[in-house]
Amino acid sequence: MTVRRFDPSGPLRGSFFPPADKSISHRAALFGAMTDQPIFIHNYLDSADTQSTLAALLSLGAGIDESGGQLSIRGVGLRGALEATGGHIDVGNSGTLLRLLPGWLAGQPGGQWSLDGDASIRRRPVDRVVEPLRRMGANMTARDDSFTPLVVTGAELRGIEYHLPVPSAQVKSCVLIAGLVAKGSTTVSEASNSRDHTERILRKARVPFERDGLTMTVSEVDELEIDEITVPGDPSSAAFMAAAACLVPNSRVLIEGVGLNWTRTGFFRIAQRMGAVIVGDLEPPGTFSEEEPVGDLDVASGSLEATEVGAEEVPLAIDELTLVALLGAFAEGDTVVRGAAEMRHKESDRIEGVVTGLRALGADIEALPDGFVVHGTGEPLRGGTINSLGDHRLAMLGAVAGLASREGVEVVGMEAAAISYPGFEQDLAALV
Ligand code: S3P
Repeated sequence: MTVRRFDPSGPLRGSFFPPADKSISHRAALFGAMTDQPIFIHNYLDSADTQSTLAALLSLGAGIDESGGQLSIRGVGLRGALEATGGHIDVGNSGTLLRLLPGWLAGQPGGQWSLDGDASIRRRPVDRVVEPLRRMGANMTARDDSFTPLVVTGAELRGIEYHLPVPSAQVKSCVLIAGLVAKGSTTVSEASNSRDHTERILRKARVPFERDGLTMTVSEVDELEIDEITVPGDPSSAAFMAAAACLVPNSRVLIEGVGLNWTRTGFFRIAQRMGAVIVGDLEPPGTFSEEEPVGDLDVASGSLEATEVGAEEVPLAIDELTLVALLGAFAEGDTVVRGAAEMRHKESDRIEGVVTGLRALGADIEALPDGFVVHGTGEPLRGGTINSLGDHRLAMLGAVAGLASREGVEVVGMEAAAISYPGFEQDLAALV
């Protein structure tokens, strides 16, 4: 395990391009494999998670060529997935691959696949996709009906109407993808918006797809029509540098080429509400188009105030809520996050991880069943040691906390950052 120390830093200055968006990269590759014609993906993320997706798609018969920073995929078509490696698919650490791929495989009669991954994946629930897919006619088994190995035996699917019990872009995407190969039409609704990258790609792929507020309908199609996808910078990765720039006095950092889709930028809006100076063209909430908006964000340090985050805002900042806890620890007053029980089902139990981790650095923070409360003092954290628990976002959180702390932070398990952001330490060092 890699242990790294992050000492208190002077102002962060300069500009950087965050790595490509992980969610969009997974989807771009998957849709590429489902398309008959070759598709080109510009700026595909090169990380452990997105390499797992490429390996899985290769094993399903897709041709993949990675050269000159561009990825081209020659897909097998919507109904052509093969069992090229005996049907064993290793999803590594990727929850998105684990939840999206079964939507496609479940509708491939004649095939059988077993999906499994690392120790963290083995703790992550798959019943959330098994349940709606079974309603569509899928044939699936899972350990204790909830965990990997997940065995999918392809079947003829039929469309359903499904209301997501918890807003989840992964489950929504899985059912919409299954809807492409299911008889009739499939309707999915959610109680509040979650990231909509799949819907934007469906719109782009010229398939029968409608979106009316929180309800989406897709119908069976023969083929997808996409020839290229450009992946913007990842706002979730950018958020770590933005948080560092907010917290370290006199910092000013320009984040270039970052995705500004409103369903992903909840953290930036929360930080602005706390008093952070973040200037840029965030996409207005409620927008829907086939494009993924991209732009720059100019972030400067400032004094922060506590805030409250409720259930509606949670899916829009789901992967950045640990950073809200960190900002809350430096802000004046009580920062409260509720309606975020989903944090417990991520690469680690992120409520326990962030509470234990930040408490060890001197924060006054308590876990709630569905979130946390941080009693901020308006003063920097002391520092100490934090364990990433193998979770990339906790590793990067520890690094940012270290730069802004009084005594520095040691991060145990820093190598986890490579799951989404392989150049994280170099990018951070270049700004310090
Ligand atoms: C993701 C959706 C989110 C997020 C995950 C990536 C996606 O999960 O936490 O990192 O790409 O769809 P849920 O949709 O399960 O909340």
